[in-house]
Amino acid sequence: MFLLDIDLESKEPIYKQIVDQIITMIEEGTLTSGSKLPSTRELSLILKLSRNSCIHAYEELEAREYISIIKGKGAFVSNVQKHLNRGWNIAWKKQCSDYAKRAVELDIIKSEPVTKKGMISFKSIAPDEKLFDLEQVRRNFLNGIALEGEKLLNYGYAKGYRPLIEYLEIYLKDKGICLEGKDILITNGFTEAFDIILASITKPLDSIICENPTHNTAIKIIKLHELNIASVSMENGEINVEELEKALSSGNNKLVYLIPSYHNPMGTVMSASKRKEVYELCKKYNTPIVEDGFNEELLYSSSHVSSIAAVAGMDNGVIYLGSFSKVLFPGIRVGWIVADKGLIEVLESVKRSRNIHTSVLDQMLLYQFLKSGDFELYMKKTRKFYREKYEFSIECSKRYLPHSRIYGEGGLYIFIELVDIDSRVLLKRAMEKGVIFMPGDIFFVNEKGRNTFRLGFSRLSLKDIEKGFRIIGKCIEDIKANK
Ligand SMILES: Cc1ncc(COP(=O)(O)O)c(C=O)c1O
Repeated sequence: MFLLDIDLESKEPIYKQIVDQIITMIEEGTLTSGSKLPSTRELSLILKLSRNSCIHAYEELEAREYISIIKGKGAFVSNVQKHLNRGWNIAWKKQCSDYAKRAVELDIIKSEPVTKKGMISFKSIAPDEKLFDLEQVRRNFLNGIALEGEKLLNYGYAKGYRPLIEYLEIYLKDKGICLEGKDILITNGFTEAFDIILASITKPLDSIICENPTHNTAIKIIKLHELNIASVSMENGEINVEELEKALSSGNNKLVYLIPSYHNPMGTVMSASKRKEVYELCKKYNTPIVEDGFNEELLYSSSHVSSIAAVAGMDNGVIYLGSFSKVLFPGIRVGWIVADKGLIEVLESVKRSRNIHTSVLDQMLLYQFLKSGDFELYMKKTRKFYREKYEFSIECSKRYLPHSRIYGEGGLYIFIELVDIDSRVLLKRAMEKGVIFMPGDIFFVNEKGRNTFRLGFSRLSLKDIEKGFRIIGKCIEDIKANK
């Protein structure tokens, strides 16, 4: 009898539990090379699970070379020798800490449906690398090497590469941010910046406020720090101020995390007046703001809206996080924190204790790119490139997704809200037709958003954008017709 211990209450997806347990059986020698596994139909009957979970599990086991599926014959254990030839074989997964287990559980790359070859994928919101000019990169990199020489390869400073910090100081002042009494720390993108801040000013069970929906990586980091989340809903794409005030006044919240520009996933921009209002409220309740300023550069039509950090002036209640990840080379992992000098001193030590500093070569490349003027030219080209895709996506969504609510004022994605349609059901149907997107529920902290989804268009051609929207629209019609 093939018995697995599946916990239906666990947050770990069922297919993952099947995968992990079969791998353990293979690695421990309970399942030997060449032995036949039950078919996915049999397995689903034995375990009383959906057949889909079993199919998904077998697909992953095959992709990881633990089994081979022979058409018409079944699934067989393979490569066992490779795993058992070890004289010392620790079952590592069993050794992992609760923190690590939660990180795996919250890792949507592993739990969400994967893009298969040939699919039109609206999942990604990464920049289109067709825009990256390698000749320009080479020139800037070589200039930096020629100027600085070998010392670029030695240890750098935890705070960051001095020339880049000085450049950013001017860049941020030009954006209206007052740096008096403030300082800058360079980080490995937004992700490390946010993690360092939470590690430095919160402890488990503290509460923090965020918009609902919000950036799913931020949700993951918040949960890994074991914080409670007081979520505030969005109203017409902006934070609901009454709810925010209620949350601020009712709890002892450590901070408020906000994405005012090109909110992820909604793509909306908080108006200047709302930014002021939100700032004044947080000030009134003495609750600091962590402002995620990523994507601010991707403004297509509306005029520039000053960051909340700029609204704060000399005050020190806003921690501003910057990153060019969505516009320029996310692979180089450079972001920055602008905050009160005293706080940056602490964050600098936390950063040093974790990874000493962000790669000096990466920082140098970004600095050269900014200083040479290539960044400005690149941004002009980039805005034009994405604006066309954005406008076309809006046009297609109106044409092919009628009766839905469409959010997005620029950036690299739009957000769709449907009436009475489960986006997970839609996703399944769309995937059968070769289209994949991000279901909206992963951005919500309280199981909401089942009728929403995000469409990232940055890396798709206009032809694929149109084809993908048409297919999604047809799937919506089919679901409605079958209701
Ligand atoms: C809301 C938000 N902030 C920041 C980032 C950038 O993160 P990082 O700089 O770590 O690549 C992203 C990327 O998707 C994002 O969606």
